[in-house]
Amino acid sequence: MAKENLFLCMGSACHQMGVYDVLPMLQTLIQDHGLEDEIELKGSFCLETCSQGIVMKFQDKRFFNISPQNVEATFTDKILPAIQAALAPAQ
Ligand code: FES
Repeated sequence: MAKENLFLCMGSACHQMGVYDVLPMLQTLIQDHGLEDEIELKGSFCLETCSQGIVMKFQDKRFFNISPQNVEATFTDKILPAIQAALAPAQ
């Protein structure tokens, strides 16, 4: 099965807000949840919502205002359910 891409905006606004602190935390979270064979974390160009904090994108969903302080909670509460729904076998 092809891996699903999880995008993290690496544009200049998100860069300034600390995307390079968030990136290793996301890599750890993906590993902690055993998703490294399913999910490919990729950097993305500016996702054009620069005023809404660091942005992530998974399929058609976007997650805003990511920060080093909230990335773990956002991943667990919002991003992980979206990933699990996408990976669940079609009924
Ligand atoms: S730089 Fe991230 S949304 Fe524009």
